[in-house]
Amino acid sequence: MKQKNKLWSGAFQKATDSSVEEFTASIQFDKALYNEEIACCIAHTIMLKKQKIITANKAKNIITGLNKIKKQIETNKFNFKIKNEDIHLSIESALFNLIGKDAGHLHTGRSRNDLIATDLRMYCIAASKEIIGLLMKLRATFIGMAEKEQATVFPGYTHLQVAQPILLGHHLLAYEAMLMRDTNRFINVIDQTNILPLGSGALAGSGYKFDRKLLANELGFNAISSNSMDAVSDRDFVIDMHSAMATCMIHISRLSEEIILWATKEFNLVQISDDFATGSSIMPQKKNPDVAELMRGKSARVIGNLMQILVLMKGLPLTYNRDLQEDKEPLFDSINTITSVLKITDGLLHALTFKRDEAEHKANSGFALATDVADYLVKKGIPFRESHEIVGLIVKYCTENNLALEELTLKQYQKFSKKFTSDITRLNVYSSLSNRNITGGTAPNQVKSAIKKAQTQLDQTNKKLKKEL
Ligand code: ARG
Repeated sequence: MKQKNKLWSGAFQKATDSSVEEFTASIQFDKALYNEEIACCIAHTIMLKKQKIITANKAKNIITGLNKIKKQIETNKFNFKIKNEDIHLSIESALFNLIGKDAGHLHTGRSRNDLIATDLRMYCIAASKEIIGLLMKLRATFIGMAEKEQATVFPGYTHLQVAQPILLGHHLLAYEAMLMRDTNRFINVIDQTNILPLGSGALAGSGYKFDRKLLANELGFNAISSNSMDAVSDRDFVIDMHSAMATCMIHISRLSEEIILWATKEFNLVQISDDFATGSSIMPQKKNPDVAELMRGKSARVIGNLMQILVLMKGLPLTYNRDLQEDKEPLFDSINTITSVLKITDGLLHALTFKRDEAEHKANSGFALATDVADYLVKKGIPFRESHEIVGLIVKYCTENNLALEELTLKQYQKFSKKFTSDITRLNVYSSLSNRNITGGTAPNQVKSAIKKAQTQLDQTNKKLKKEL
């Protein structure tokens, strides 16, 4: 008979088959949770001592052992073995090896089910904090760029066709607005995740007089869970985290797409500096936006990982099922992906030089001022639908005669409506921009105050987070 060697194998007659050991082990990836796991173990030991469930001496031995294990892991001296299954059993068996029998008290009244739920919540909170930090940095970069480009006239697009002139600062602030919502999304994730499952035991609640408030305080949780069955089987916080990451990656992907387009010869609106572009192995003339393309491409795996957790959870009966072990790898993958993407995004933004002359030229092209001509007639008393029709005919006339709107004489304008007077020939991109003088619009003074507002909001959030997180 094979030797029994598991912490849980009391009732087992046979040792685990090695193929099962390999198939069920999660230590290869859940070792990433060592920090949270050891913090939980220490908090639990402090609580067991305070509740007089274990003696002060035993608690001291356990905590000293746990700290040693933590050091071993952090200096790469810890040997993670498949036969120890997961992070919980790896640390507990290492503790046995280090301090002997006293280690046997550590698992009093707890289960790997409430432990893993607690570890994972702590991990998500720490990751959200890191992501928020990166988002704040990126928002500051966008605000700085908006300030620099607040007077840059840029073509605004709908349907990928030049639509109306805008200020580049306005366009850049649109991304800041998305990242502000992302920041708030991760703050909400932290709020929702900040609830302690420990004390829920395997599913029914622990059978000891535990001080769960003390556990929450030790581990920095705001609240304790109110239903043990929900606490061990809930992964909504993982879904929320994935969802916030996927939405954020969609924003990054849209930004990437725009940078890729702008950098083409066809758009010719931006130059990516050499240190952030790559070459082709065959075509010497190529300078490719590979960084932006990978940022766009990596959004696919983050979105895919959101689908994975949704499908994983669908139809799982209460409470713990081993399926839940599959929550970790995609989560770690998305967190690693989004953090590396947010870092490189900041670098890429700093590597962009906008082609201001070309941008202004494009903003003037494609009848971008047609709406302004229509608005002009409306201000002279013509109903909008009628003026839309008139300007449509003007655009048709220009197209047929290969003319731009600015090239039309007053006489030509007046063929279409007697309401046109000499001031129509003074219409240009600048008057068009100034006309959008409405909160949220692209008029220069609106963009200026939007920059100020974004900066104030960012400073306030920074201050608030410094206090709270
Ligand atoms: N490795 C498991 C997980 O990640 C640990 C949780 C409890 N395992 C168990 N067999 N009850 O979900």
